[in-house]
Amino acid sequence: MKKINIATPAIVFSNVSELSVADKLLMDKAIEARKKAYAPYSKFNVGAAILLENNEIILGNNQENAAYPSGMCAERVAIWRVGSEFPDVKILKLAITASSLIKKVDKPIGPCGACRQSLSEYEIKQKQPFQVLFMGEVGEIVKTESLLSLLPFSFDSSYL
Ligand code: THU
Repeated sequence: MKKINIATPAIVFSNVSELSVADKLLMDKAIEARKKAYAPYSKFNVGAAILLENNEIILGNNQENAAYPSGMCAERVAIWRVGSEFPDVKILKLAITASSLIKKVDKPIGPCGACRQSLSEYEIKQKQPFQVLFMGEVGEIVKTESLLSLLPFSFDSSYL
């Protein structure tokens, strides 16, 4: 028997003005995407922006549906665009932001479990970690150096 302790190193910035120019630019793109979210049911708007090695920035936002489970999260809309349009280009960073029409979102909103799993496929595929930054509408931003650090004990193709 042994005890293990898996840590997720992260930097927490107080607000967007503390971000580097590149990170702020990507977060601004995520905000732009968030503003176009289609979330009439939850009224919770999420935007995602992915920076690729070729300098392209791919956006995504949540797309809801009257049949609730048929909707999709912002992160998966964005990552699947990358997977389908830029299959051989490496991902450098992902920025995520969320706001709500019901209340001020003032704490960092991390990607949901299903999105972490979907995103992990692409980090493993490219054999190189990508940075993940996430925030609410205002306030702190969490930055991690890899997606997999947000998903310990993840399921991957080595189990198949
Ligand atoms: N949502 C995302 O877009 N990303 C997440 O990681 C968590 C949740 C969306 C799904 C749904 O449209 C709304 O937020 C409320 O759950």
